[in-house]
Amino acid sequence: MNIAKRGFGRLESFLDKAFGPDLNPLCQLGAYGYFCYWIVAASGIYLYIAFDTSITGVYESMEYLTHDQWYLGGLLRSFHRYASDAMVFFLFLHLFRELAYGRLTGPRAFSWMTGVPLILFLYAAGITGYWLVWDELAQYIAIKSAEWLDWLPIFSEPIARNFVSPDRVDDRFFSLMIFIHIFVPLFLLLLMWIHVQRITKPKVNLPRMAAFGFLGMLTALSLISPATSHAAADLSKVPADLHLDWYYLALYPLLDYLPAGVVWFMAAGFTIALLGLPALWTKPERQIATVHLDNCNGCEWCLKDCPYSAISMVPRTDGKPYRQQAAVNPNLCVGCGICAGSCPTGSPYRRGERLVPGIELEGYTLLELRDRLTSVCTGSGDTPKRLVVRCSHASKTNTEDDPAIVELEVPCVAMFSPAFLDYTLAQGLADEVVLAACGDGECFNRTGLQWTRERFARQRDPRLRGRVNDEKWRIVNAGSSGDPGIALTTEMSKQPDEEAVTE
Ligand code: HEM
Ligand code: SF4
Ligand code: SF4
Repeated sequence: MNIAKRGFGRLESFLDKAFGPDLNPLCQLGAYGYFCYWIVAASGIYLYIAFDTSITGVYESMEYLTHDQWYLGGLLRSFHRYASDAMVFFLFLHLFRELAYGRLTGPRAFSWMTGVPLILFLYAAGITGYWLVWDELAQYIAIKSAEWLDWLPIFSEPIARNFVSPDRVDDRFFSLMIFIHIFVPLFLLLLMWIHVQRITKPKVNLPRMAAFGFLGMLTALSLISPATSHAAADLSKVPADLHLDWYYLALYPLLDYLPAGVVWFMAAGFTIALLGLPALWTKPERQIATVHLDNCNGCEWCLKDCPYSAISMVPRTDGKPYRQQAAVNPNLCVGCGICAGSCPTGSPYRRGERLVPGIELEGYTLLELRDRLTSVCTGSGDTPKRLVVRCSHASKTNTEDDPAIVELEVPCVAMFSPAFLDYTLAQGLADEVVLAACGDGECFNRTGLQWTRERFARQRDPRLRGRVNDEKWRIVNAGSSGDPGIALTTEMSKQPDEEAVTE
């Protein structure tokens, strides 16, 4: 998977430069999926109202919409088809990207496991949609699907018999298909909602510019190559010249060459393999956040910053005069350390062993962070001219080329709080600090980079103290492709993304 990760990382860096990090399409594939869904739903409502739902009238009504009312009905039909295709495209790209970055184990397995049925429901919705036009392609799909389904021992009578002659297909059967084509997408939406329930503020809305750009491209495609039908279905003939939509119908030609059972085996095997992947995947060692009640005052800063909703506030249990205290659900914690960087009690200025914040990672405490910081900066005897605080998911920087540059690895740059930056500079541990993040448009831990920018821009608690010279620190995009050495040249804006998930 390293090759895939490297490939995605490089493509992402390229798209960051081409579109800017906020519009990088690879960083909002889920939001593109949602956007396509809304386009399909809105155009589908119009098509449903405008078309004749009887088996005898449907083809003519679609022809009317496509040719006579091309400026509205035809355009919306094309939107409906192309946005559905785009949804398949974004879904698989999103799946491969999550896989390449290994975001499918531990608490992330929930999103993965709920993503798999989304594929099945999306296909069911798309295939029944093609069926509804009742042209030669629909006829082909209907017969092949029936033959495929008949392999399963669930129907008392083979459903393929419905298509042996024109008089066998009636309005009742057709109404059932329409019902399925409406019901399945509604269920898909419910699943899409469940899919993002375990993450805080999921990116389900596209930035405005991206939405307009995508709509513009869809309109251009719909005008240049409008969606059309094949000839009307005729069950007395075998359709000869079919143009398949490969996004949805790629399995159908297989049914011409392979027995239906084998195709079932392949489809089921693919689904089971996807569902089983999180269990088989090598699980990276995961730290869990732990709360030290003595130092928790219930301020909620960690609750607001946790990207995986792993923290909740519960009534005080230790009799201290605070209303609430933080509690971590270990099953939801990915061990990013963002909460440790958010806790106001995690000041490195606290003496010796007393550096115990309200919350921190069990296996990488703030005391340890301070010790490592001191050791990398003082190791050579000379004050380093630059300290690189590198996210463990980011590519290595070019520190080896220059002994005056030292590197400190953290699970996420957001674990290195503004107080730690202040401390590093004030104690003369380094002349300059560079925070090397794993991406610009999207951080491995979703919100770590955004929170870091806001904290350091003094817009979010815990804020950087006013006395810190802003010339002395930078945030760079080291990327996650694994290509070393690019970090110190690709400087990022210090200002947080205005449209992003901030409060
Ligand atoms: C209709 C199709 C889909 C839509 C609309 C969709 C949408 C989304 C959205 C909006 C997010 C949150 C992104 C963020 O804010 O960080 C997300 C996360 C995720 N999705 Fe999907 N998704 C779809 C299909 C899938 C599929 C098929 C899989 C894999 C089988 C999948 C796996 C994941 C995973 C693992 C995450 C969590 C990433 C993390 O924890 O950082 N998704 N999805
Ligand atoms: S940020 Fe620290 S003090 Fe505030 S609630 Fe969380 S653990 Fe407690
Ligand atoms: S380490 Fe902290 S911020 Fe990260 S997931 Fe666990 S509780 Fe949430």
